[in-house]
Amino acid sequence: MYRLVFTHVLRRLDAETVHHRTVRGLALLARTPLLKRLLHRALAPHDPALRITAFGVHFPGPLGLAAGFDKDAACAEAVAALGFSHVEVGTITAHAQPGNPRPRLFRLVGERAVVNRMGFNNAGAQAAARRLRRTRGVPAVVGVNIGKTKVVPEPEAAADYVTSAKELAPLADYLVVNVSSPNTPGLRDLQAVSLLRPLLTSVKEVCDGTPRRTPLLVKIAPDLADDDVDAVADLALELGLDGIIATNTTIAHDGPTGGLSGRPLKARSLEVLRRLRARVGDRLTLVSVGGVEDVDDVWERLLAGATLVQGYTGWIYGGPLWAARIHRRLARRVRLHGMTSIGEAIGRTAPR
Ligand SMILES: Cc1cc2nc3c(=O)[nH]c(=O)nc-3n(C[C@H](O)[C@H](O)[C@H](O)COP(=O)(O)O)c2cc1C
Repeated sequence: MYRLVFTHVLRRLDAETVHHRTVRGLALLARTPLLKRLLHRALAPHDPALRITAFGVHFPGPLGLAAGFDKDAACAEAVAALGFSHVEVGTITAHAQPGNPRPRLFRLVGERAVVNRMGFNNAGAQAAARRLRRTRGVPAVVGVNIGKTKVVPEPEAAADYVTSAKELAPLADYLVVNVSSPNTPGLRDLQAVSLLRPLLTSVKEVCDGTPRRTPLLVKIAPDLADDDVDAVADLALELGLDGIIATNTTIAHDGPTGGLSGRPLKARSLEVLRRLRARVGDRLTLVSVGGVEDVDDVWERLLAGATLVQGYTGWIYGGPLWAARIHRRLARRVRLHGMTSIGEAIGRTAPR
C-alpha cells in the first residue's frame, strides 16, 4: 500500500515539502492524546524480550529514529507512537538559523538513498526547550542532538555547544554532540582530537551537572580515516563519555552536493561499528546508524556490538509502519535463536 502511495504520489512531490507536511501531521497527532495513545498501544514495542537498558536509560526496543527528521522537537511522541523505541531530535543549534537554500533534499530512489544539504535549519535551542518541556502523553525516550551555529567561528564552537547543552541537557534522556554533518562548513574538523577534547569536556561538565546526570554521546562521520575512528573512540573512553553514534551521512558519492544516506552507506557504517567495537568492547554504548533497511540489518548491527540502532532513510522508503514491523520481527528472531532477551544478541559475532 505504502509502495503505491510512494510511487504514484510522494515521489512526484518535492522531497522537502513531503517532509514538512509529514512533520506537521505528526505534530498534530502529538497533540491528539487519544489517537496517540491508541497508536502507541498498537505499534510501539511492548514485548519484554525487546527491552534494553543503555547508559541507565530504559528503551522498549533497539530501533530509534535518527537525528534530522524532527529537527525542532515538534513530534517526538507521535514518532514513538508509530513504533520507534526512541527519537533523536535535532540537530539543534544555540541560535535559530534558516539552513541552506532550497532545493536541499534529494531522493535517489533507484539506490534507496537520499542526499541532503539542509544545513541545520532549526528554530534554536530555546524554542526546542519550550517544546521538550511539554508533558508527555505517551512514554517516549527522547535524545537531543546539538550542533554548531553556522555563523559562530571555530574558536567559539565549544561555548556555542555549551549554550545549547545548558538549555537542553536537563530535558534530554541523552545528549549527542554532533560534529559530523557535512553541511556546516568546518564542523567535521571538530572531530580532530585536539579540538574535540575541549569541546566534549565542556559539554560533559554541563551534562554531569544536571539532576539526572544526562548521558553524553558523540556522533561521528563515516568518512573519518580508520585511525581517526580509533582516536575518537580512545578520547570517548578517556573522557568517560557514555557512547558513540556511528555514522552520519557520507560525502563520498557522485550525486548532488550534500550528505548521502541510505543503502549505499550500509557497508561503511557497519565497518565503522565493527572497528569501534574492536577498540572499545562493551565499555561504551555503540549506536549504529546508516543504511538500515530491515530486520536483518538491525540484527546484524546488534550482533556486531551495537546496543541501539537508528534509521531514517529506511523509514522514508519503508513507510510509516517500518519501525513497528521491524520490532515485531526482531521479537520473533530473539525467540527463534532461543534467547529470552535481545540483550543476549549484542556483540555475539564481535571478536573478543
Ligand atoms: C534529510 C536528512 C537530514 C539529516 N539531518 C541530520 C541532522 O540534523 N543531524 C544529524 O546528526 N544527522 C542528520 N542526518 C543523518 C541521519 O541522522 C543518519 O545519521 C544518516 O542519515 C544515516 O542513516 P540512514 O541511512 O538510516 O538515513 C540527516 C539525514 C537525512 C536523510
